[in-house]
Amino acid sequence: MHLLIPAAGMGRRMGADRNKVLLTLLNRPIVAWTLLAAEAAQSIRWIGIICQPADEPVLAEILADLSLQTPIVFIPGGNTRQESVYNGLRGLPAGAQRVLVHDAARCLATPDLFDRCAQALTTCSGLIAAVPVKDTIKVVDSSNQVQETPDRARLWAAQTPQGFEVPLLRQCHDKGWQQGWEVTDDAALFEKCGLPVQIVPGEETNLKVTTPVDLAIAEFILRQRGFTSAPESTQKESAKK
Ligand code: CTP
Ligand code: MG
Repeated sequence: MHLLIPAAGMGRRMGADRNKVLLTLLNRPIVAWTLLAAEAAQSIRWIGIICQPADEPVLAEILADLSLQTPIVFIPGGNTRQESVYNGLRGLPAGAQRVLVHDAARCLATPDLFDRCAQALTTCSGLIAAVPVKDTIKVVDSSNQVQETPDRARLWAAQTPQGFEVPLLRQCHDKGWQQGWEVTDDAALFEKCGLPVQIVPGEETNLKVTTPVDLAIAEFILRQRGFTSAPESTQKESAKK
């Protein structure tokens, strides 16, 4: 299975001095945690990291430190996540049939989640990891007046990995570009093209590190999993747990 990792954002909502995926949790960059989970998954055989050229040198250092077995290439990112994934699709090896797309910022996804998504993609052409919504969600208008309360039982929060047949996802991105559609995940393009998207049960801990509070929560979850803020030299050992 091929995996594309969009990592080309700025992390504006984090408000840090660099791309948020380069910030560290327990001494290890967020994107490194994401890569370690992907490497530990049985199903992932190739990884494309979609990044801004300015981040490439530091990413190369991170990769050198991790010494992963999986082949990894850098693909230049775009101005939006949608553009970045579109670039990513062009960077896949010729003949790639299926792809998982997983945000670098979702660094707590487990290897098992990657493998379950890869397995599910053998029986469908489009899927997303997702979890039932816990909050009651309101639809509001431009003056913040509540318009509607959708039935929570039918609401799921989309996560990544999202998985697709490559030729179909390419067609959806082409159409999205031609039509000027702006979406925040790849499944939305699939849906707009009338294609089915299957839900794979996601993980409650698979949060997207977005604002500063997420750093604290993510670090807490990593500690709960037995990782410690060890010195660089012992990090690799603890990450293999
Ligand atoms: N991403 C990307 N290319 C972009 C924008 C985002 O590859 N032009 C990636 C991010 O690096 C992240 C994932 O898409 O791993 C999900 O996006 P998000 O959480 O919104 O990250 P940012 O766009 O970096 O954050 P913000 O929206 O707060 O600026
Ligand atoms: Mg963003």
